[in-house]
Amino acid sequence: MTQLYHDNEKLRIRVCGGMNCSANGGGRPLEDAIQHALETAGVADEVEIYRAHCLGECQNGPCVRIAGERFYHVQPADASDLVREEILPRLK
Ligand code: FES
Repeated sequence: MTQLYHDNEKLRIRVCGGMNCSANGGGRPLEDAIQHALETAGVADEVEIYRAHCLGECQNGPCVRIAGERFYHVQPADASDLVREEILPRLK
């Protein structure tokens, strides 16, 4: 069973910072955009963002994993939609 939360009950998000994803809009710019969207939604303290070296799906990057579920071709401009549609519903 996938562990959805850390002991501190924060939702985990992994943003791929590998070479392919970073070269296509992922990595730090995507992390920053998601963080900004979380702050705008007022839930930044309920979520932890981690940078992954590679999520093993380079051809589908930029990749993001939220509580074990993978999302592909995620661009910084998608951050607000990602937070609203995929993160907010997962928060307790
Ligand atoms: S570089 Fe992102 S999945 Fe491999």
